[in-house]
Amino acid sequence: MNSLTIGKLKLDGNLVLAPMSGVTNLPSRLLCRKYGASLVYSEMTSSEAVVRQSLKSIERGFTCKDERPMGIQLMGSIPNNLAASAIFLQEKYRPELIDINFGCPAQGVIKNGCGSELLKKPGLIGEIITMLSDSLDIPLTAKIRISDSFDETLKIAEIIEKSGADAITVHGRTQKQGYSGKSNLDFIKGIKSELTIPVMANGDIFDEITSQNVLEYTRCDGLMIGRAAIGNPFIFKKISYFLRTGEILPSRNTEEILADFFDYIKLCRNYGMLTFNDLKRNAQWFTKGMENVKQVRMEINKTHDIDSIMTIMNELI
Ligand SMILES: Cc1cc2nc3c(=O)[nH]c(=O)nc-3n(C[C@H](O)[C@H](O)[C@H](O)COP(=O)(O)O)c2cc1C
Repeated sequence: MNSLTIGKLKLDGNLVLAPMSGVTNLPSRLLCRKYGASLVYSEMTSSEAVVRQSLKSIERGFTCKDERPMGIQLMGSIPNNLAASAIFLQEKYRPELIDINFGCPAQGVIKNGCGSELLKKPGLIGEIITMLSDSLDIPLTAKIRISDSFDETLKIAEIIEKSGADAITVHGRTQKQGYSGKSNLDFIKGIKSELTIPVMANGDIFDEITSQNVLEYTRCDGLMIGRAAIGNPFIFKKISYFLRTGEILPSRNTEEILADFFDYIKLCRNYGMLTFNDLKRNAQWFTKGMENVKQVRMEINKTHDIDSIMTIMNELI
């Protein structure tokens, strides 16, 4: 397995956890690191909110020794505010890197000209990356979606490289596609062949075989994994083991999945992050791959407090 180097940051592998709002909080990132993600990203946080000193937004960057290396992802469109919030978070949490979101397709984000809406303004992307790479003393990465045309996508990727980013992640879907349709590996492969900074491929990497196919086809330097890691941090161990040995590890049984779930709760408690809504979502996610749990998942859906979730999950053992 190859190792990624992003600017001055040397990773021990090339599998990366994608930033995911409402998912990649510190406890979930810690579990992914435990199972072999070489780098993890925070949920996106708004530069405007950080500049306003919103505690909730600032604390998305909260980290601890065990999770490093980690990156904080920022979403915004005003270069000065992105730079100010990046510098603030760099000083406060000392993340290993900062990432800028040029890919989010959510209405609430694009209506403010942020996320994937910025792909329509390559000049502004260049301004943002230049200002941030000049302001930070840690590596800077950017995460983009593709545009309708390859040339347009390549132009944006080249601007990002020339403006000083240390690596780029390409999610092979357009803004319009959202999460439907297929991730376009040809665009990702084409971008990788033209850039000199490391390129991470993203989109539809779900298991050992898709990982190997994407790496071999695109020749990318790393793989960023999103949805497949939700409620399934063990995916990183399965994929890294396969890429190293060519062998497929057996899937987790119910006891092992529950052990991860209870570890998640322990970590949430340790870091004061245990909330009913988050636990309910995670109980659904962790039970997704189990057999004969249709009834259990319906019961989880009806819960109104943490104790009821704990009772249901304990009964699964
Ligand atoms: C629930 C959810 C939240 C997401 N939040 C973010 C985010 O905060 N920042 C970001 O750049 N991408 C976000 N994404 C996109 C993922 O990082 C990733 O690009 C996308 O899911 C495709 O990868 P996958 O096929 O491995 O899931 C999110 C995706 C999901 C499903």
